[in-house]
Formats: sequence, C-alpha cells, structure tokens
Amino acid sequence: MCGIVGYIGHREAYPIILKGLKRLEYRGYDSAGIALYDGQDIKLSKTKGKVDDLERRVENEISTNGSLGIGHTRWATHGVPNDVNSHPHYSNSGDLVIIHNGIIENYESLKKELTNRGYTFNSDTDTEVLINLIEDIKKSENVKLGKAVHIALNQVVGAYAIAVFDKNKPNEIVVARLGSPLAIGVGEDEFFIASDASPFIEYTNNAIYLEDEEMAIVRRGKDVKIRKIKDDSLVNPYVQELQLNLEQIEKGGYEHFMLKEIYEQPHAIKDTYRGRLSLENAIIKMAGVEDHMKKFLNADRIIIVACGTSWHAGLVAEYIFEDLARIPVEVEYASEFRYRNPVINENDVVIAISQSGETADTLAAIKLAKSKGAFVFGVCNVVGSSIARETHAGAYTHAGPEIGVASTKAFTTQITVLTLIALRLARAKGTISSSDFRMHMLELEMIPDKVEKALASDDHIKMIADTYKHATNCLYLGRGYNFPVALEGALKLKEISYIHAEGYPAAEMKHGPIALIDENMPIIVIATKKGHYEKVVSNIQEIKSRKGKIIGIVTEGDSTVKELADHVIEVPETLESLSPLLTTIPLQLLSYHIAVMLGKNVDQPRNLAKSVTVE
Ligand code: G6P
Repeated sequence: MCGIVGYIGHREAYPIILKGLKRLEYRGYDSAGIALYDGQDIKLSKTKGKVDDLERRVENEISTNGSLGIGHTRWATHGVPNDVNSHPHYSNSGDLVIIHNGIIENYESLKKELTNRGYTFNSDTDTEVLINLIEDIKKSENVKLGKAVHIALNQVVGAYAIAVFDKNKPNEIVVARLGSPLAIGVGEDEFFIASDASPFIEYTNNAIYLEDEEMAIVRRGKDVKIRKIKDDSLVNPYVQELQLNLEQIEKGGYEHFMLKEIYEQPHAIKDTYRGRLSLENAIIKMAGVEDHMKKFLNADRIIIVACGTSWHAGLVAEYIFEDLARIPVEVEYASEFRYRNPVINENDVVIAISQSGETADTLAAIKLAKSKGAFVFGVCNVVGSSIARETHAGAYTHAGPEIGVASTKAFTTQITVLTLIALRLARAKGTISSSDFRMHMLELEMIPDKVEKALASDDHIKMIADTYKHATNCLYLGRGYNFPVALEGALKLKEISYIHAEGYPAAEMKHGPIALIDENMPIIVIATKKGHYEKVVSNIQEIKSRKGKIIGIVTEGDSTVKELADHVIEVPETLESLSPLLTTIPLQLLSYHIAVMLGKNVDQPRNLAKSVTVE
C-alpha cells in the first residue's frame, strides 16, 4: 500500500526518486507525486495516474534540480485518487512537506481541532492532517522538526511510514514507521529512504530497517539518529548488508514481471528446499522447526492465518499436514480471525503465511495469537519483514523478490516450505514410514524439472487463452489437494483479466454453480490421475451434458479426459500431495495470456496492491 522514496546527498535527487517510484509502483499506482528542494524552495508536482504520468507532468511543471527530495506512489485509502489527494502534501505555511504510507485513524478529530485553530485543508486525506499537526506543534511549542514529529506521532492512532522535510532546514529528512515498512539506504555521504530496498540497491547494499515505533533524522553528509517514538530514547542504528541484486528486480527480457516470475518457479522451488532436504542422509532440517520441535509435536492443532494467495497455500497445507503428520489444522482468513474472538491457547501453533511479511491483517492476527500464548511460526518471503520479526520462529521461502502484483512463485514456494515442515513433523511423529518419507523427498527433488515441463505447454495454453479470452464467467473445479488450486486459478484470472471467475470443490458444483453452465461457460477442471480421478471424471460428464466448455488439467498421457474435454493441458505425474506445485502452472499461464490479450496491465491490475499494509 503506497510506496515512498526519498534522497538526501550529493547527487540529483529527481532521477533517483523517479526510478525508485517505478520500482515501488507494485505497492500502489493510482497517483504519484514528488517534492524536490532546489536550493531555495520546494518544487512539487503530483498527479492522478501512474509514475509515467507523473514524469510527463514534472517535465512541463517544475525544474528538477536539487539533491533533496521525496516521492510517493499511492494506493488510495482516504480520498479518491485525484491530483489533490496525491502525495506529497504541504503544511499550511508551505514550509513542510510529507509523504505517507498508512492510515491515521483519528484524523477526523485532529482535523476538527486544527480547523478550530485556523488550519485549512485542500485534500480529503488523513496525511494532510498529520503534516499540519506537525506544523502546529512545531510552531506552538517552538521545537525543531524532529521533536514536532515525535510529539505528533504520540498523538496519532494508526499506521504509518512517513518522510517529512522542512524547506528551512534542507539538510535533513525526518522519517518514522509504525506498521508500514521503511528502509534507509546508507551510502557514502548520502542516504536513501524507501518502502523497500529496490530503489537504492544499485547505489548501496547497506541498509537500516526501522522497527515499529521508531523515527529517524537522516542528516545530509552526517548520520542517522534513531529514537523510539514512545519514550524518545536513542537506538543504535543496525546497518545490515543486503543480498539483493539489481538483476532480481528487473524484468530480464520478459515482457512482464509476472511472466518472469512464473518462469522462475523451477529455480525458486529448488532454492526453497536446497540445504533443507538431504536425500543422501534421508533428512529434512529446518532450523526454525528443529528449535521448536516440542511445540509442534505437542500442539493440539495448527491454525494457519493468511490472506489472498497465501491463504490458498494455507489450504493446501491443511491437506498436507493432516494427511502426512496427522495434526488437525484450521485455516483462517487473518482478517476474520483477528476480529472474531477465537478460542486459542498455549497448546496451539499458529502458522502465518505471507509473501511480503507486511500484510496488516496477518500481522494483527499474529499479535492476537501471541497475546493468547500461542506459539507463532512465520512463512515469509521478504527477509527481515515485519511478520518475520514478529513471529517466534519461521522459515523463509527463497523465491526472490516478487514484483508482479498477482502472486505466482510465492505460492509454489510457500507450498514447498509447508510440505517440508509437514514431512519433517510426520517423520518426528512417526506418522510416515521411512520409505514414504524417502519417496516424498525424491519426488520433491524432481518437481523443478517437472515444473519446467509444465511450462513447456505455454504455446498451447496461449491458443486456449485466445479461444476463451472473451468469456465473461469462468469456473475452476478441483478436489482434495487441488481444490485450493482451483481457488487460486480463479483468483489469478479475476485479478489480472477482470473476468469473473469462481473456484469450487468439483463435487460442490452440483449445489449451485451447475446452474450457471451453458455452452458459453469455460470450466477448468483439474483432473490429475491420483486425485479422486474417477469422481472428477464423473463431474466432467455432468458438465458435458450441460454443454459447458471443458479445459482439463490432466496427467501426461491421460486419454479418458482427453476424449471428454474440449482441451487438455498436460502436467507430469507426481504424488497427489505435490500435484498443486504442477497444476498451478497452467492456470497461472492461462490467466496471464488472457490478460495480455485483453490489453490489461498484468503487473499492476486495477485497484490491487502487492502489499496490503492497511486493514
Ligand atoms: C495482496 C496481493 C496478493 C497477496 C495478498 C497477501 O492482496 O495482491 O497477491 O496474496 O495481498 O499478501 P501476503 O504478502 O501477505 O502474502
């Protein structure tokens, strides 16, 4: 939700901020803006639309000189996306300027107070209230900007990552975070500020990640002073060396990040199990699990909390954990879990799944579970993210940066990690035989090559996409392990092509969706050999009798479904428990091609954002 960038140093700030905003556009892209200090004054330009629109506007509107600046790409919360509501926002005097990612929940009461004190507001945003609160404190208490920000943040309720500067003190930027990420890139006599490290990775590998409830004053050519927002105590900056490289965050010859990320899956899956699975020694080892084995083995149940695609990975995990490790599992939408007074205690293990590690609802669900004494384990992709830090232990997926808003490689690597955990626990509990355990490991090691094979159907899938691109509704069916894959397939199509799609357990079709079926309705049925195959074939017959158009996702060499279906897409054979890692691939490609053919913005679908840091 919203990307923020800032620069203070010896270079021209504008190109750095502009490129940084383009890299952060996955976080929100309904409007964008920039404020530069040109040596005398603030030059501000902002617009509804994308960063490209901003670039065009800046060229006609302002001079771009200056080595201090901040920029913002927005996902609207308060106030519709328009020029006025775009960030940055000035204070009433025009001296201060702010960018903000998050929500100030008590902005209405603060706005009332400020209005009574003579402040006026141009926009509908909570952010403009915050910058005027800071200005009011600065003036009335006669304090410096840093102190005013500190006092103001103690008065606000909500979530934020902010960057503020004062044109009368153009040698510093004040930043703060609570609930939204903020990284400070530390270069030679220069500092970068960003929602993640991608805007500054080509300039420096050294970064400070602010913790929640910390603020920092970043001083040109000097240092970074970090303080706790609550008690004003000083914090020693911890500078970490990042492993990220530029190649990982560029498209590398692919037309879209989503396609690149789909094709990265064989590697990403391998990277995720590498070093954890040893076929030679017949062991699976994951530090986060080993260190807390007792907690897992004594757990009455596992509760999985997540949102979106990560929730679908959680549903797959439910089948794996129950099947292999015989531990009861419940899978919850984090947003529901956190507000429904769940029964939860010290004997529960909560697994939180999140690609970004920043999803506000998942983070809140973790805090709730911890407050009730549960042990919380995180499965995240982004190293050092809020969820990774908030959980008691965890295991990273090693998918590398995922930039396309529609999640692809995060999903398959989440399933990989969760499979490893389930197998490890199953072995420890003795619910899996050593031969079965070995077979699972062997099959898992073959998955990257099999994903590669599944990707080889791309051209065939493109032709199918061409046939159905004008469909207005689509149904996705699967059973058992592949029911969550059906949900994920439908979500992918919805997200990027805006075609209405629903995922259903194949047998449930009879209880409603069957009424929708006619000769115009494409129905994607996952009918791999091991997953209740005959039952799914019967479901296909039922669709056929109603003239629905059938696209079967089948095991290589299948002939039964081939005869019934209008099209089939083959995936290699594997264990039923690992089949989601393969059946997902054609569904990702199908959505991708349909969306491209419809001319949609695949990497930045309307209204969505990659990292949802508001509830
Ligand atoms: C957003 C993204 C989805 C993602 C979901 C959960 O809706 O667009 O792709 O699955 O958030 O995100 P997380 O980072 O917690 O996995």
